[in-house]
Amino acid sequence: MNGRIVILTGAGISAESGLGTFRDVDGLWTKYDLNDVATPEGFARNPNLVMDFYNARRANAAEAEPNAAHEALARLEADYTGEILIVTQNVDSLHEAAGSKNVLHMHGALNSALCNACHHRWPAPALMASDDLCPRCNAAATRPDVVWFGEIPYGMDVIGEALSKADLFVSIGTSGEVYPAANFVAEADRYGAHTIELNLEPSARASRFAETRFGPATQTVPEWVNDELARTKQ
Ligand code: APR
Repeated sequence: MNGRIVILTGAGISAESGLGTFRDVDGLWTKYDLNDVATPEGFARNPNLVMDFYNARRANAAEAEPNAAHEALARLEADYTGEILIVTQNVDSLHEAAGSKNVLHMHGALNSALCNACHHRWPAPALMASDDLCPRCNAAATRPDVVWFGEIPYGMDVIGEALSKADLFVSIGTSGEVYPAANFVAEADRYGAHTIELNLEPSARASRFAETRFGPATQTVPEWVNDELARTKQ
């Protein structure tokens, strides 16, 4: 059986599907103050502004199609005999739309709603409002099921375990500016994994990777997947 691969993805893998990144020239954080729309304090101050922000992103994401990079990762999962885990920082569902099964959304997902009172989760309606009633406890305490700055990402125990057993760690389309994801390469390296960065340009953590390939994800990811499948079939 082939080795274990952990793949971290960021907004860059969905850029060519028409979804904005955060820190590029026209990124989301150049248009919105993240303190207003991506923190619990911002939500408490103005829940409607936050709901409008995520409703607009949900509508965008609903129109988006997976691109060749998402599809290549789904092909890898189907054809590779080892274990593959995709840890995505993205809240879109393009990995699942491409056919990937083993996907962990460490920052949550646009298509999920969360109750601030009882922490129940349910499929998000297209237009979510903060006074939507929780289907379980009936509280008017709905929020987007996304992880905001200052909150603990989902699945950190699973991710830590996967990194400790990884033979290969691949980072795709992330600036390496946000922790704890930005430290996964160091963790994987410490456990002896080979590390590869596939990005449009060097991320803040590029020097930490054993191998780097730069270019658009729709080119670098299919190329890498073809190389990895050819290498493991030898
Ligand atoms: N192909 C590959 N990489 C790309 C492409 C592309 N077509 N377009 C942009 N990129 C790269 C950029 O060079 C950049 O390094 O994707 C990265 C996007 O970085 P960010 O905008 O910072 O997005 P991300 O790294 O996913 O942000 C991490 O920050 O705000 C939080 O929760 C948010 O999950 C997000 C986290």
